[in-house]
Amino acid sequence: MSTQGLPEAGTAGAGAPGRAGAKAFDVQRVRADFPALRQIVRGKPLIYLDSAATALKPQCVLDAVNQVYARDCGNIHRAVHLPSQRATQSFEAAREKLQAFLGAARPEEVIFTSGTTQSINMVAHCFGRARLKAGDKILVTGLEHHSNIVPWQMLCQAIGTELVVAEIDERGEVSLQDIEDKLKAGGIKLVAFAHVSNALGTILPAREICALAREYGAVSLADGAQAAPHLAVDVQALGCDFYALSAHKLYGPTGVGALYGRFELLDSLPPYQGGGDMIRSVSFAGTTYAALPNRLEAGTPNIAGVIGFGAALDYLASLDLDAARRHEQELFRYADEGLRAIDGVRRIGTADKACGALSFVMDAAHPHDIGTVVDMEGVALRTGHHCAQPVMTKFAIPATARASLGIYNNRADIDALLASVRVVKEMFS
Ligand code: ALA
Repeated sequence: MSTQGLPEAGTAGAGAPGRAGAKAFDVQRVRADFPALRQIVRGKPLIYLDSAATALKPQCVLDAVNQVYARDCGNIHRAVHLPSQRATQSFEAAREKLQAFLGAARPEEVIFTSGTTQSINMVAHCFGRARLKAGDKILVTGLEHHSNIVPWQMLCQAIGTELVVAEIDERGEVSLQDIEDKLKAGGIKLVAFAHVSNALGTILPAREICALAREYGAVSLADGAQAAPHLAVDVQALGCDFYALSAHKLYGPTGVGALYGRFELLDSLPPYQGGGDMIRSVSFAGTTYAALPNRLEAGTPNIAGVIGFGAALDYLASLDLDAARRHEQELFRYADEGLRAIDGVRRIGTADKACGALSFVMDAAHPHDIGTVVDMEGVALRTGHHCAQPVMTKFAIPATARASLGIYNNRADIDALLASVRVVKEMFS
């Protein structure tokens, strides 16, 4: 696996030699911040390798959420009393933290949602229905999560747009040439793609895809759910029009996420839902709408979730993220080599650039059996189609076992994974 375009792998996990000049990542210190890692499951310490499904939460996130309900329990943007003011201030501070995390130009470009799925559905509704017409095409890749397929299929059914797919190759990579050829053929108005594949870990060339989309007059949407936890994201440098992400993959609460939209584009879109807090004035003669971001945030939002998201972003900002990313890349490589070295294990997805998730199958055991046996060893993996059935179809398999990494994983976790996979092999051979 090449690490071209990524922070160089080097210092990493416990026991790994340090690369000259690069600061080691203090993973032991980070682990102490995550209370879920202190539990015993099946009589063994939890080895958590399912962060692509949802990441564990540091204590500061739990404290921030708790404080909202225990002290600052007021609705936002609605009252002059102190709990409401505190909640409003923390909520809007979270928006600014996310703006900084994403490199967005203005806080109004950040719309809080319930997660990546809602963010993509918002684009399908607000941009798709308002701007696209029958015969217009939407380009996705063969790597997409269902949440970046189904909203477009629903749009196609509703208004007659067409879905075009840039297929993946046997390594799980997309071809920029294929994307350009499809754009050149005409009619594509939106390119919606995963920045990182949740099933295979493939890193897509996001900057190049966005540049091609722009060159051919299409709008770009990157699904950043799996990229934001592992790569430095700068929406302006990427040149994307929309970027969707979830808090819970970034060590924040579930049920909250965001849509970034380039201001001029976002500002030109109609509202997503109607309700409180998104209006300027309402009468039975008609309604006028509030400015961004409120116009796209109808109703009482997940206040505690957004504030917890802000705490997660503070937590990440307190770490040396370059060192964390080098550490994750080193662990990825260590796990990749370890899995390949086990006879009867086949890695699925061997892209040149990958991060976060490692999928594999075994000759001897179905992925569900792998998941069940390694769970008995205290190792938490995800097994199944990972909400990416077209990827499974491409590889002619029903499912994979998937190990995925977070900032708290260390070499001992990977050693435990490899040992548990050997137990599966012995049990089923
Ligand atoms: N999309 C999440 C995953 O890949 C749930 O596991």
